[in-house]
Amino acid sequence: MLKESFTRIDSLHYPVFIGSRIWDEFDSLIRSRYASSNIFILSDRQVYKKCMSVLLERASLLRKCPSKIIPAGEFSKDIENVKKGWEWLASHNAGRNDLLINFGGGVISDLGGFAASSFKRGMPFLNIPTSLIGQADAAIGGKNGINLNRIKNQVGTFKNPAAVFADPVFLQFLQKRELVAGYAEIIKSALIAGGDFWRDIKLNGFEKPGMIEDLITRSVQNKISIVDGDPFDIDKRKSLNFGHTLGHAFESLSMEAGQKPMLHGEAVAAGIICEAYISCKLIGLSRDTLHEILHLLNRYFPSLKIDFHEDKFSEYLLQDKKSQNGVIRMSLLNAPGIVLVDQPASMEMITESIEYYKEMTSP
Ligand SMILES: NC(=O)c1ccc[n+]([C@@H]2O[C@H](COP(=O)([O-])OP(=O)(O)OC[C@H]3O[C@@H](n4cnc5c(N)ncnc54)[C@H](O)[C@@H]3O)[C@@H](O)[C@H]2O)c1
Repeated sequence: MLKESFTRIDSLHYPVFIGSRIWDEFDSLIRSRYASSNIFILSDRQVYKKCMSVLLERASLLRKCPSKIIPAGEFSKDIENVKKGWEWLASHNAGRNDLLINFGGGVISDLGGFAASSFKRGMPFLNIPTSLIGQADAAIGGKNGINLNRIKNQVGTFKNPAAVFADPVFLQFLQKRELVAGYAEIIKSALIAGGDFWRDIKLNGFEKPGMIEDLITRSVQNKISIVDGDPFDIDKRKSLNFGHTLGHAFESLSMEAGQKPMLHGEAVAAGIICEAYISCKLIGLSRDTLHEILHLLNRYFPSLKIDFHEDKFSEYLLQDKKSQNGVIRMSLLNAPGIVLVDQPASMEMITESIEYYKEMTSP
């Protein structure tokens, strides 16, 4: 059952509204700040088909807004679609007083945020995330970007949305696999936060009815508290990257391999297991916690087929933004709630962690 109220979380720079009763807030924000603006909507085909009518029922003042629809999926997060977005905005004479609404999953908020933040040196944008990854993570925090030659998030900006409106109503239209992919980012968030958040997920998983909105709220709270202290990713924010150094490299490998790439959340789930193993070997994560993490992720994620040529894989890892001077660095977990950033890891250790992953997960 969805809650009947909503939650408002204020970051230093913008509010995030979560729940089914957020739409009056949306209406008043648009009327007060964007009454004389032109409003544009960016979305993808899948979200447009499944969710647009639901959005328009709740936000009727968007009915006449022009929309740009791009193909769904990670392959769309590229410069070609940014260029099409810029051209579309230009064809409508969009300007700095107008507003772009990113309506979709993490691909749409990453790409739309980047397109808006660079168009005419920056026009405002607002996120209405529709996937679990979008609502719990991607739409928050002001990191916008695109992939370059299959390398994740190589080009981008830091620019905050004007606001985020996350209504779990949209999650019912997600395919099961896409929903489950979102569990990985929530598990990551719980491991970084530690305390009750990790304890509750470890004990209950995601099965308790009605819990998803609460988990989204806790993930957002955790992310905002970290990002507000380090908006430009210099130190503490890198903790949010736990599981992502290897996760992104797996995702890049799979995009390179072709037609049916693994989902971002699936790659992150595998990355969390490998990086938890490395944490255990290098910085003292307990074997008990490693087993708890493995047990939880194995409940939801089948083993991914990871075939790689070590040179290609290390090339992807060295392109990661945390790597420096040819040294691969990652954020590792000392214990739930304690992450050490910028930890060097050798390619031998990384290969060992992947062997561990293959041995301990089942197809
Ligand atoms: N900027 C950040 O801080 C941040 C954080 C985490 C992830 N990300 C990025 O987010 C992306 C992954 O996010 P994602 O999984 O949302 O990807 P996505 O946007 O590709 O969405 C996944 C799929 O679900 C579909 N979809 C989305 N909402 C739907 C709905 N309500 N009903 C039916 N279908 C729906 C989409 O069309 C797409 O096919 C990656 O590119 C990742 O790098 C960014």
